[in-house]
Amino acid sequence: MSSITFFTSVQDQLQFIEGRIREQAGEQHHPDLRSALAHLLSSGGKRIRPTLGLLVGNMLGAPEEKLITLGASVELLHTATLVHDDLIDGALLRRGMPTLNARWSPAATVLTGDFLFARAAKLAAETDHLPLMKLFAETLATIVNGELTQMFSARGVIDRDNYYQRIFAKTASLFEMAALAAAMVATEDEEMRASMKIFGYEVGMAFQIVDDILDFSGEESAVGKPIASDLLNGLVTLPAIYFAEANPDDEDVLSLPEGGWSDTERVQRLVDNIRRSGAIQQSMDEARQAIHRALKALSYAPVSAERDALEDLAKFIIDRKI
Ligand code: IPE
Ligand code: IPE
Ligand code: MG
Ligand code: MG
Repeated sequence: MSSITFFTSVQDQLQFIEGRIREQAGEQHHPDLRSALAHLLSSGGKRIRPTLGLLVGNMLGAPEEKLITLGASVELLHTATLVHDDLIDGALLRRGMPTLNARWSPAATVLTGDFLFARAAKLAAETDHLPLMKLFAETLATIVNGELTQMFSARGVIDRDNYYQRIFAKTASLFEMAALAAAMVATEDEEMRASMKIFGYEVGMAFQIVDDILDFSGEESAVGKPIASDLLNGLVTLPAIYFAEANPDDEDVLSLPEGGWSDTERVQRLVDNIRRSGAIQQSMDEARQAIHRALKALSYAPVSAERDALEDLAKFIIDRKI
């Protein structure tokens, strides 16, 4: 079991990042927007992406000020995608609290997400690093394109390549950016940058696979968001794909591409069957393999306390229940 001391090792810097994030919700705005932002910012979150960036940057000797700006930017970008994602998914619970869309109109929710994107972009610009701003914009485009692809052409689709593309777009791209951006402000060494990019990518892929597993096997009280919701939204994730491969003639599996995911009773039965099957373990094994590749990329980095902490962070992804 890995320890989560990797969070505590950057505790002080994370506090500075919290401060930068809070500044973005300053007073000049509309009171409803202000209260929505306060609600979002008070609900916490693991802060795993800024932690990843801080550890990579500290390890490679990046200027602290740039890392803090970057960390705040990455976390705001992440928060904005969650606001939009919950609206798209119709999810009413996030971080153990009601989502914005649970209380507000879709229009107000979209605009709040846009505001957060704007603030994230402003922070990225404050790094005064043009390639970083381009990376930020590219990543945002990848995420949005991924959500659109998922919405229009991935519902009910049982296809592994399609799945990997989706989880890269919606999740791994941002982890990759967090790690690469921190390396970019620290070093000109292209090989080091490439290794950190791979580390972020693999950790991000594992992170989303585990998120998809937790949608089947997690506890709502621990993850703070609704369980068993992916299939109900027509999203066929890795555990369901493994189950489908092992049970190609299962009636519920066969119904998925034809829209069977909109039948609640059917989906509940399928979820129960997937939970009891070996598909969960197979998916975990795959997440472990991604972490193994991440650790291989990390071995290129200098031996240091931060490198050990990054190793713990990678292992935490596998063990996490939250
Ligand atoms: C949730 O991310 C969205 C996914 C990419 C699965 P996190 O699990 O990092 O969410 P918070 O920020 O800790 O709430
Ligand atoms: C979210 O993926 C990825 C984003 C870009 C927001 P999920 O839809 O699996 O995230 P959760 O489970 O709602 O947190
Ligand atoms: Mg979602
Ligand atoms: Mg999920």
